[in-house]
Amino acid sequence: MTAGLFIVFEGGDGVGKSTQARRLARWLTERDHEVVRTFEPGDTLAGREIRRLVLDHASGELDPRAEALLYAADKAQHLFEVVRPALARGAVVICDRYVDTMLAYQGAGRALDLAEVARIARWATAELRPDLTVLLDLDPRRAVGTKAVKDKLESAGESFHDRARQHFLDLAAEAPESYLVLPARDAETAIAASVADRVAALLSARTGTLAP
Ligand SMILES: Nc1ncnc2c1ncn2[C@@H]1O[C@H](COP(=O)(O)OP(=O)(O)O)[C@@H](O)[C@H]1O
Ligand SMILES: [Mg+2]
Repeated sequence: MTAGLFIVFEGGDGVGKSTQARRLARWLTERDHEVVRTFEPGDTLAGREIRRLVLDHASGELDPRAEALLYAADKAQHLFEVVRPALARGAVVICDRYVDTMLAYQGAGRALDLAEVARIARWATAELRPDLTVLLDLDPRRAVGTKAVKDKLESAGESFHDRARQHFLDLAAEAPESYLVLPARDAETAIAASVADRVAALLSARTGTLAP
């Protein structure tokens, strides 16, 4: 149980995670909540180095276990340095990608046993789960923002991204109470309104708990 609220945006590349994270942050700030916007991997000093190692073609082919441990290390450091302190002082933490991304992408790669990856991810995060995960779902073929220079994950094949998408959906289906799954090509404002509704409900439940 944390004082703040931990909200994660998940989904493939170019589905609108940053757009919606920005909108939610604005919505919350206007209502006088302290907001910390962050992302994985790479939003700490050590994390920046880890991000470079896992995503840059220059680091060559990484052993899948090494890769999983690097992602796990990034998460542990991120929670220690950014997420837990913010939650402890009651902030709303909005995080772009979290454990589901690691599971979806490492699982889609098929190189590792998914249950093992999940154990490593849960260990690295000491089981800290988001209060809400917003999954922006989209056929990878319809994602916008095709980049000229692609990192390792962005340049993985279509079937990889199809499997990752399905895995995101499976994770959401396992715990529907803590997910909001939305079609990513709905209007930006409509998505933002759905997210705000759900977050408002969480905030009032939290306030209700704290009320005398
Ligand atoms: N609901 C939407 N419908 C259509 N285009 C969108 C929508 N949300 C975001 N976009 C556009 O899609 C692109 C990728 O959005 P972005 O938020 O950067 O995605 P991500 O952070 O998931 O990679 C941007 O050009 C953005 O303006
Ligand atoms: Mg983004």
